[in-house]
Amino acid sequence: MIKIGKITVAGPLMLAPIAGFTDPPFRRIARRHGAGLVMTELISAEGIVRANRKTMDMLAFHDEERPLAIQIFGNSPAVISEAAAAVEELRPDMININMGCPVRRVCGSGSGAALLLDPKNIFDITAGMVKRVRIPVSAKIRIGWDHRSLNYIDTVKALQDGGVSLIIVHGRTRDQQYGGRADWDVIRKIAEFSSVPIVGNGDIRTHAGALERMGFSGCPAVMIGRGAVGNPWIFSGRKPSVQEIIDEIKKHLDLMIAYYGLRGIVLMRKHLVRYIHEFRGAREIRKRLVGSNSREEICEILDSIAR
Ligand SMILES: Cc1cc2nc3c(=O)[nH]c(=O)nc-3n(C[C@H](O)[C@H](O)[C@H](O)COP(=O)(O)O)c2cc1C
Repeated sequence: MIKIGKITVAGPLMLAPIAGFTDPPFRRIARRHGAGLVMTELISAEGIVRANRKTMDMLAFHDEERPLAIQIFGNSPAVISEAAAAVEELRPDMININMGCPVRRVCGSGSGAALLLDPKNIFDITAGMVKRVRIPVSAKIRIGWDHRSLNYIDTVKALQDGGVSLIIVHGRTRDQQYGGRADWDVIRKIAEFSSVPIVGNGDIRTHAGALERMGFSGCPAVMIGRGAVGNPWIFSGRKPSVQEIIDEIKKHLDLMIAYYGLRGIVLMRKHLVRYIHEFRGAREIRKRLVGSNSREEICEILDSIAR
């Protein structure tokens, strides 16, 4: 365990939330490979306050995932602090507020990256959360709404004043969505002036790249999202053999089936294609795997690759 400011984590390379991917099975896999912290995908504060069943299901986690942060989104300080109090009862290690989601459905209601347009509300939200819960509160931001409004200094100041313990910075604007490049020069600038520890995020695809970005930016930790899908070894830097990848897929598949029932086989497909994408004949293997509907069939295909 290492300390980052007031936060205790298991290592400096963390798993970024990816909606639809970073569910409890994958978060457990990431932790087994050394991810220092894992985080749920964004979960509606409104839904939590209304105790919506589907929303409450998204809050589930396994002890093996710890240290774990639950991420919520919303735009009303009152609703968010109410949701934070409910979340704290589940005993996660941290609560995170999403200030980076670019999708219209979320921004349209003033949540996610739309919060970046209103630093006063950022302060009200985080100060309210920090007052309401005892566990650490963190925020995940982008560097601005668009390149004409790179207001990250105001955003970070509002978060500092609000009392957050950690700030994760995805080095893109909302306008960029996931295109272009994450701006690590800006992340470095933020890490220099912020009194709160900064976790840099964006475009890390290798273990060496993660260490290089930490060195460049001065961030005590970094978060990895897309680069970890199908490659949890990114956290340890280990280069797996084909057999190790196959064994890992089977473990992941079993966790998926245990968590989702047989639906887990279908939900596993998006991971499968990432795990095998560098195999020789990947296109053919992929076709066979995504056409499989049972654990046995998938394992048979995988075993035939190893032979
Ligand atoms: C499909 C998808 C879903 C995402 N879902 C979330 C989310 O629920 N919460 C969040 O804070 N970020 C989310 N992100 C953003 C990632 O956490 C991360 O900031 C971004 O992908 C850049 O990092 P990367 O290049 O390592 O993937 C999502 C990204 C993608 C591509």
